[in-house]
Amino acid sequence: MVDYPHLVGLTYHIKTFGCQMNLHDSERVSGLLDSCGLVEVATPEEADVVVFMTCCVREKADTRLYGQVSSMVSAPVPPSGRRLVAVGGCIAQRDGENIRKHIPNVDVVFGTQAIARLPYLLEQALLDDSHQLEADTAEPYEGFSTDLPSHRAQSFHAWLPIMTGCNNFCTYCIVPYVRGRERSRIFEDVVMECEHLVRDGVREITLLGQNVNSYGRDRYGKPRFAELLRAVGQTGIGRIRFTSSHPKDLSDETIAAMAETPQVMPQLHLAVQSGSTEILRRMNRKYSREDYLELVHKIRAAMPDIALSTDIIVGFPGETEEDFEQTLSLVREVEFASAFTFIYSRREGTPAAKIVDNTPHEVIQERFERLAALVADLAHKANVRELGSTVEVLVEGPSKSDAHVLVGHSPKNQTVHFALPDGMSAQDLTGRYVDVRVDEAKTWYLRGPMVGSAR
Ligand code: SAM
Ligand code: SF4
Ligand code: F3S
Repeated sequence: MVDYPHLVGLTYHIKTFGCQMNLHDSERVSGLLDSCGLVEVATPEEADVVVFMTCCVREKADTRLYGQVSSMVSAPVPPSGRRLVAVGGCIAQRDGENIRKHIPNVDVVFGTQAIARLPYLLEQALLDDSHQLEADTAEPYEGFSTDLPSHRAQSFHAWLPIMTGCNNFCTYCIVPYVRGRERSRIFEDVVMECEHLVRDGVREITLLGQNVNSYGRDRYGKPRFAELLRAVGQTGIGRIRFTSSHPKDLSDETIAAMAETPQVMPQLHLAVQSGSTEILRRMNRKYSREDYLELVHKIRAAMPDIALSTDIIVGFPGETEEDFEQTLSLVREVEFASAFTFIYSRREGTPAAKIVDNTPHEVIQERFERLAALVADLAHKANVRELGSTVEVLVEGPSKSDAHVLVGHSPKNQTVHFALPDGMSAQDLTGRYVDVRVDEAKTWYLRGPMVGSAR
């Protein structure tokens, strides 16, 4: 590691927006800054270096960033006498130097492929007492952020990117423009990293990619995701999850590998986006309503008890009431255990941004609320079905509102709450498996007593 003497001893804080890719990248930024001698602090106000890892998938994320970065201008200056503000992630990649036109107090801009350059840019900004700007979009970093040191948010869970970028170009989506084309990591590197993580005490991994099902296609000429699941299952890891899965690429081999690898959790996030074949066509999703339902049928035939979750966009340009009702009926038919629902957000530069749509916002908002109510109802029903059963929970720590209540997730990824047993501390149980008997089923979580001992 090259030394950056001016950074040693400074404090830093990272604010992360967006998806798991950004969460993972933030852990790498944190690891990198630790290795340069900086020290993490809990709030941006007390930090010498504030890093924003940004997201532009929807408009709300954009406006939030601009508000938060601007508010750092008025925050009191830290003891070192100068605060550096760095903007990374997808807005940095998209806007590059233009960010400074809107927020002049930004010192460093670094693109999604330029994480490794951050310490150098911060040091330069300090030395020159000037604003260093580098989006590094032209010279993509050949490695993966995964090659950098990591400071994991949780010792027992790791994000494990298996690929970056996306080739799908859904017509509403900005991601392919800010994360580049699909690039898969070397198969053996992923397996080896998982083995290291297991030795390091990690019990659950989440394999990451915008479309994990096509893992390997660019590097090996054919997808190797099914093979990867089986190989990672042999590493001694307790739990495997993965996201995201594009329905058009979920193969029979992958379904079989999921069913036959006990470490793969009985849970699948399979973004449908809409229940209307016509809207799916305009979204360039490359499957129909019927294809999706058939896929769900195949998945449930292989894994009858699997919990399915999804992403849905309401108000794609030109969506009619009939199209929307098709979405409601698909959601009812599949009985998703949970769903992320979004109102369509126009993203400049995407094909859908050119479609003129006069549907009033109130109509879209009303559809969104109907969908949200249905999703909540189905989530509650899925939780009620667990009543009386005993679920294995990987404990994450105390709940934010009550230190005597611990929180974790079941194999199906349901949030589970249980009371801290007498004579035990949260530390004793964090990162361990416990069994919880489900006595209560709320809409968004399960609750009950811990039974038996921790493993
Ligand atoms: N690659 C993943 C996939 O296809 O499943 C998801 C990537 S994106 C980060 C997460 C979700 O954001 C998408 O599934 C979609 O529902 C939503 N999304 C993407 N672009 C959007 C837009 N312009 N407006 C509203 N929601 C959007
Ligand atoms: Fe966006 Fe579609 Fe790629 Fe997902 S698959 S990141 S929604 S373009
Ligand atoms: Fe957002 Fe970038 Fe992820 S736009 S959703 S942080 S890939």
